[in-house]
Amino acid sequence: MPPSHIAPHLEILPGGGLPVSRRHFLRGAVTLATASLVPPALSRRARAQVRFTGYPFTLGVASGCPLPGSVVLWTRLAPEPLNGGGMEPGRVEVQWEMARDEHFHAVVQQGSVWTSHELGHSVHVEVHGLEPASWYWYRFLVRDDVSPVGRTRTAPAVNARLERFRFAVASCQHFEQGYFSAYRHMAEENVELVIFVGDYIYESSGSENLVRRHAGPEPQTLGEYRNRYAQYRSDPDLQRMHAQVPWLVTWDDHEVDNDYANEQSEHLDPQFLLRRAAAYQAYYEHMPLRHSARPHGPHLRLYERYAFGNLLQVYMLDDRQYRSPQVCPRPGIGGSTLVQSASCAELRDPMRTLLGAAQETWLMEALGASQTRWNVLAQQTLMAQIDWQSGAGQAFWTDAWSGYPAARARLLSFLAQQAPANPLVVGGDVHSNWVCDLKPDFDDPRSPVVATEFCGTSITSSGIPQERLDAARADNPHVKLANSEKRGYVHIDLTPERCDAHLRVLDSVKKRHSTLTTLASFVVENGRPGALPA
Ligand SMILES: [Fe+2]
Repeated sequence: MPPSHIAPHLEILPGGGLPVSRRHFLRGAVTLATASLVPPALSRRARAQVRFTGYPFTLGVASGCPLPGSVVLWTRLAPEPLNGGGMEPGRVEVQWEMARDEHFHAVVQQGSVWTSHELGHSVHVEVHGLEPASWYWYRFLVRDDVSPVGRTRTAPAVNARLERFRFAVASCQHFEQGYFSAYRHMAEENVELVIFVGDYIYESSGSENLVRRHAGPEPQTLGEYRNRYAQYRSDPDLQRMHAQVPWLVTWDDHEVDNDYANEQSEHLDPQFLLRRAAAYQAYYEHMPLRHSARPHGPHLRLYERYAFGNLLQVYMLDDRQYRSPQVCPRPGIGGSTLVQSASCAELRDPMRTLLGAAQETWLMEALGASQTRWNVLAQQTLMAQIDWQSGAGQAFWTDAWSGYPAARARLLSFLAQQAPANPLVVGGDVHSNWVCDLKPDFDDPRSPVVATEFCGTSITSSGIPQERLDAARADNPHVKLANSEKRGYVHIDLTPERCDAHLRVLDSVKKRHSTLTTLASFVVENGRPGALPA
């Protein structure tokens, strides 16, 4: 039985509205009918071949993958979100409509799609034929129930002159360790996009100082992963931000299992690919991804690139699915550890990869062909080399890029040689804010700065002790800021001339209503890689 305190908060609906009636939904259809655009499907009740009781849009709505004329709309029918969704097996027809205004006076497109238990009754609509760089509002209808209203925005036309673009970078939202109130503040900012870089759910539970509890055990099966996503999506602030702007998403380890690497789980489970397939399927069902991302067994192509006019290109990377296992693990176990560089020769094996050969080639080709002013590499973890051993000798954490130094040197050397314009690396995973200069060789003071990194912090997940970060500063002069004390997100404001990165932090995630401040702001100037204090 799910605990009662995590019942969905239907009273707080994104888009500022209450559930609207079927008659109100159809008013948009009448508008369309006069324009002779209404398909006959909307003139009758949406068809459902399965019975369900209760409001089905408990998980809200979302959009993502914005292109110049296209965006993905998402919802999932889940009248009982923590009980497998509460839909009987079978097919259901869901209607959708999209308008230029939040009251749906000017409906521009509508249609219907079928979903079924095979997709967890999730709905992914790829809408095409839209205007670039435009706001739209959307909603869904099934039976007599109308979803909350979402707002989304298409990308500017390719090569369109874009003077400004603002987006937020978020990661690591352990449900038990805090409320997602960072999103309430993010929704107040005028960002056009959220880039989420991993740990959307956590499979494992915390032990202390928790504000709420996971329902159910650590997920292993598709049903259990569905329930875990549904519980996270019950958070009203997360729902609100999904309904506010489109998201680009990638994952890290906790969407499946801590520290997994490719086909290997932390505990070397021989059945791990079955678990990975279940987790990937649930991930697809809960994210606003294109149909082409629908998984095939334990495989899901997540890496993709998105252009926003002539100003920026975003490369959404996947450094979990194709990576070599973490190097020099503890005996009898997989996963990460801190290794002495001198005692782990395998660390420097040039064959080891973090992105996998195909993705690495794809990334370099895309970067090499890029025409945009900024190039944002959105990925999971900290890219800068972090030596955790004070003084002589070096110790590296094997799960981050520092555990894959040859792969990192390949990428950063490529940036040095090919010089795509203004590379920015954004990441998460480490539950702390890091601002770093990236160099092909971190141990060589003459090695040039080729990119700038903004990593973290977390939406809620607890950080590591600040003393450890402070102790590491002397051995890592390319680090401009390292702070693990606060939770929050990064607001990035791009113009052709500069990137302003604001590290937004909360006073506490242990209460629903937090206060937002800015921990620090940095500037990256066009043509000058490296972060400067603002
Ligand atoms: Fe995390």
